[in-house]
Amino acid sequence: MAIHIKTKLPGPQALKIIERDKKYVSPSYTRDPHCPLVIASGNGAYVTDVDGNVFLDFCAGIAVTSTGHSHREVVKSISEQAQKFIHMSGTDFYYDVQSRLAEKLSALAPGKESKKVFFSNSGAEAIECALKLARYHTRRKQFIAFFGSFHGRTYGALSLTSSKPVQKENFFPFVPGVTHIPYPNMYRAPHGMSENEVGDRCLDYLKNTVFKTIVPVHEVAAVFMEPIQGEGGYVIPPKKFVKDLIALCRENGILLVADEVQSGMGRTGKMFASEHFGVEPDIICLAKGIASGLPLGATIASESIMDWKPGSHASTFGGNPISCAAALTTIDLLEKKYVKNAAEIGKYILTKLKKIENKSSFIGNVRGLGLMIGIEIVKDKKTKEPAPLLKAHIVTQAFKRGLIILGCGVSTIRFCPPLVITKKDADTALSIFEESLATVEKGTLSSI
Ligand SMILES: Cc1ncc(COP(=O)(O)O)c(C=O)c1O
Repeated sequence: MAIHIKTKLPGPQALKIIERDKKYVSPSYTRDPHCPLVIASGNGAYVTDVDGNVFLDFCAGIAVTSTGHSHREVVKSISEQAQKFIHMSGTDFYYDVQSRLAEKLSALAPGKESKKVFFSNSGAEAIECALKLARYHTRRKQFIAFFGSFHGRTYGALSLTSSKPVQKENFFPFVPGVTHIPYPNMYRAPHGMSENEVGDRCLDYLKNTVFKTIVPVHEVAAVFMEPIQGEGGYVIPPKKFVKDLIALCRENGILLVADEVQSGMGRTGKMFASEHFGVEPDIICLAKGIASGLPLGATIASESIMDWKPGSHASTFGGNPISCAAALTTIDLLEKKYVKNAAEIGKYILTKLKKIENKSSFIGNVRGLGLMIGIEIVKDKKTKEPAPLLKAHIVTQAFKRGLIILGCGVSTIRFCPPLVITKKDADTALSIFEESLATVEKGTLSSI
């Protein structure tokens, strides 16, 4: 397929749907009025809207459609499972496809000890499960999370989240017992500070400020960490920091929960982002890319940690058979080709973006692992002042040209396409991105 924009955006059919949506759908969603996509169908990395416009999708429904839109084999497994049975409460009974998926995830997760899996329907629910399990297993009540983190919007997950004030405004009070600490951000480190020094400082704050002044270390159940911060701006921490953090947790009987909801399932060029850091988290939370778009959350823990008794946690829909079938096929495809593809094409895009960065006066930093790539937009490369408005203009310009991208953090643009993209797709996206950037740089904006 190829990009083809043939109407004004939004087109007449899209406009009708958007008007109805505005009248009846909750206004709490974060739709961007400048990117009014109304999808009619999807195929691989391309989506066609209701007016016949074809876009290249570099957001994958926020890092979800890992095998592309409606992959033939995923659709086949969904339809085969739907014809057998659609639901049977996994809380009370058994089905083969769920236990097979648990076995597969247990085998894939880093670490030697055998794992157990709790299934839910979303990222936030996977986090809720980890919160409850960590308290249950350790009998401790306190948690550590990071500034800039996003763990979801249910009350427990939102209590860990420290992303944007609008997400918390008018919702206080939250679940007590969460203390936030800085996440090591190399790009925004004080001038001259090395990568490891930045990490050491964050760890020092935890050890010598938090543990010595506000939270007794032996009352901490778990540290929640995104191995790569997603909504916070695609920030990659130093390897030594992650290793030192897990060592500190182990010394003190604290569990390390890796929130791999966005970074997991092959997106970074390895099945789990934690593998890049050589660590074995005690609990891993997954969702998004796990089932190519069907709702599924998974919380994986060593069997010695997942020691709760029947009735302590359950979910009617969690681990739905159709989602499990889609996940098994998704994992098979990821293992056969798409994790490798994410690593290769990700490297290719990153190299090209670095060249664009050198030429541009607005790109402060380009970073990424696999197909989890962030481009931080700034007003000035020396002061590094964030430029959220410029970022928004670039996203809009790209959309007008048929490329769907999203922002994250304060002023970062993310590339998180389906893991199936080809070099040709990458080149198309890069040339549209460069053109959009140039348009904004030249100040030749038409009508935003
Ligand atoms: C790292 C991370 N954790 C948790 C969540 C919450 O997932 P969901 O929206 O499926 O509840 C997200 C969503 O963006 C996320 O990026």
